Amino acid sequence: MNGKIRVLITRDFPGAGLEILDRNGFDLDPWEKDRPMTPRELVSRAKNCQAMVCTLTEKIDKAFITANPQLEMISQFAVGFDNIDVDFATKAKIPVGFTPDTMTEATADIAFGLMIATARKMFFLHKKILRGEWGFFRPRANLGMELRNKTLGIFGMGRIGMQMARLCKAAYDMKVIYHNRSRNMEAENLLNAQWVEFDTLAAQSDVVSVHSVLSPETRGIFNGQAFARMKSSAIFINTARGPIHNEADLLQALELKEVWGAGLDVTDTEPMDRGNPLLSMENVCILPHVGSATQEARDNMSVRAAENIVEFYRTGRVPFLVNPRVFD
Ligand code: GLV
Repeated sequence: MNGKIRVLITRDFPGAGLEILDRNGFDLDPWEKDRPMTPRELVSRAKNCQAMVCTLTEKIDKAFITANPQLEMISQFAVGFDNIDVDFATKAKIPVGFTPDTMTEATADIAFGLMIATARKMFFLHKKILRGEWGFFRPRANLGMELRNKTLGIFGMGRIGMQMARLCKAAYDMKVIYHNRSRNMEAENLLNAQWVEFDTLAAQSDVVSVHSVLSPETRGIFNGQAFARMKSSAIFINTARGPIHNEADLLQALELKEVWGAGLDVTDTEPMDRGNPLLSMENVCILPHVGSATQEARDNMSVRAAENIVEFYRTGRVPFLVNPRVFD
């Protein structure tokens, strides 16, 4: 192994992957500060490196790639890669690795948890206790809703969407409908899931759960029009990317009671401002983008991100590759 390949490590990633890189003779260049790099710091710090492990808040755009012509490989520590200009990386002949199927269960658990937490107003009720407002038992107060036999609408039926559907079916025997670019026959056969048009998904779901990538097609697709189509008793869950829903439109739809509640692990922008009105709404539960935050998922992501680099330099192949056209 050529010991001179220097890898920029942009965060304090779990040790499992770093040990793999170290053991395989890579020279690691870890960012030492307890904050993300600024874009300028990222450009200049990468200059000494041939490869990098990065994450979704690092902007790997045209300017960054152009300023770093020595860069040979990008290894993204995430399943999503909307922070990376993949087309430009491909033109620059840089393979982009990613870490799919390492956080499927962890992220689906957060979607499932947010669905229940929202249906039962859990975060709002917890905040009431903190304010000293436990109060006394009122039979008609604090009422949520039950989920048995409801219809789950999955937007983006990939691995995580399918796991969310599996959980909902097992727990509550929910009927599953989904909207995806292409049909997912595994979901149809195993979960009796039914492909529907986007408008039908919005109109028929009791719970809409977003699991798609963020792309020009999905950006803002859950807008005022989509929320207006939804049932006034519906819950909207997004654990994928904040910009897939329009936050101002969601707030308005909740205020107008066009939708009943929302559970979000992702917001636009992140971090969400602490004064955001969504944070104090009764039927809204928000988490700070922690879908993959389990020890197991983060260890596996770290190993996968490292193995993508090791394999690239050993065999010329990247096992989990975003841009196969780079090798055309
Ligand atoms: C998390 O959001 C990921 O894309 O891995």
